[in-house]
Amino acid sequence: MGAWLERLGVGFPIVQAGMGGGLARHRLAAEVSQAGGLGTIGMLSPGALAAELTRARALTARPLAVNLIVPLARRAHWREAAAADVVFTHWGRPRRRTAGTWVHQCGSVSEARRAHAAGADAVIAQGREAGGHTRASLGAEDLLERIRAALPAGFPVLMAGGVANAGDVSRALSAGAEAAVLGTRFLLTPESRAHPGYRQRLREGQRTLLTELFGTGWPAAPHRVLPNAATDRWLGVDPRGPLAVRALNRLSAPLGRLSLPDTTAHQRPGLPLLTPSPPTDERAASLLDSGPLYAGESVARLSDVRPAAELVGALTP
Ligand SMILES: Cc1cc2nc3c(=O)[nH]c(=O)nc-3n(C[C@H](O)[C@H](O)[C@H](O)COP(=O)(O)O)c2cc1C
Repeated sequence: MGAWLERLGVGFPIVQAGMGGGLARHRLAAEVSQAGGLGTIGMLSPGALAAELTRARALTARPLAVNLIVPLARRAHWREAAAADVVFTHWGRPRRRTAGTWVHQCGSVSEARRAHAAGADAVIAQGREAGGHTRASLGAEDLLERIRAALPAGFPVLMAGGVANAGDVSRALSAGAEAAVLGTRFLLTPESRAHPGYRQRLREGQRTLLTELFGTGWPAAPHRVLPNAATDRWLGVDPRGPLAVRALNRLSAPLGRLSLPDTTAHQRPGLPLLTPSPPTDERAASLLDSGPLYAGESVARLSDVRPAAELVGALTP
C-alpha cells in the first residue's frame, strides 16, 4: 500500500466504494473504517448525506469518505460532503469542488489526466468489469498501468473493478495501485442496505450486462447489472437498450439534479421509465425486477455474505 493512504490515517489498502441511492450508509462505511480500511457513504440527498456522516462519526473516529456523482450533485451536496475526510467523485467533468482531499474515479487515461490537471489528490482507475456505472473500455489492471504511465511518478492511483479476494488485492498492489476499491464484494455484507432479495440474486449471479437501460435522469451512462425481468424485456439486439428508451432517458436528464419523491414502487419492468435507483432494504421488492441490480463481473466468484470488518482483514494480503 502507498504512503498517501497511510498519511490519511488509513492502515489497510482496502477502500469500500461509495454505492449511491442508499446502498452504502453509515454502518457499512463505519465498519470498514473502524477495521482499518476506508469506508465511503454513497450519494443521497444532501440532508440524508449529512445525517449518515454524523451517525458514522458516532461509530468511528477513523477517516470516512463520501461519494458524489458529479452530474447529479447540487451545491448543497458539495457543502455537506466537505465534512468528510475524503470526497470521491465520479462521472462528469473533473473539477475541484472541495478544499479537502478529493479523489476522482476515472474510466480512461484522458479523464485521469483531466482530474490530475484539475488538482485531484488521487485518481481511481475503474475498469470495465466494475459494478455500477462505468465508462471504461479497458480492464482495471490495464487501465491502472496506462494511467500510472501517464501521470507523474508517485501520484496515487487506486484500482476499482473485479477485485473479490486477497489475491486480487495483492495483484493490484503489485501493479502499483495505492489501494483496491471494492463495490460488489461489500454489497454482500450484512451492513450494506441491499434488499435481501438483491443480496440473494448477487449470491446466485453468474453473468452481468453493460447497459444504458436504467437511465431516467442519468442518460447515456453505461452501467453493469445482473439480468432481471426489465433487462429481459428491453435488451434485445442493442445491449444499451432500445433507441426509444434511450431517447426518453435523454429527455429526462434535467430530472437527475432535482430532489423528487421516490417513485420506484410504481416502476414496472415493462414501463420505459427506468430509474437508476437500486433495490435497497427500504424499497419495494418489485424493484428487484424493475430496477438495476448493479453488480461487477466478480459476482460470479462471490457467494458468501461476510461482515464488513471481517472482510477488510481477509482482503488485506
Ligand atoms: C451497487 C453499486 C453501486 C455503485 N454506485 C456507485 C456510486 O454511487 N458512485 C460511484 O462513484 N461508484 C459507484 N459504483 C462503482 C464503484 O465505485 C466501483 O467502481 C465498483 O464497485 C468497482 O467494481 P466491483 O464492483 O467489481 O468491486 C457502484 C458499484 C456498485 C456495485
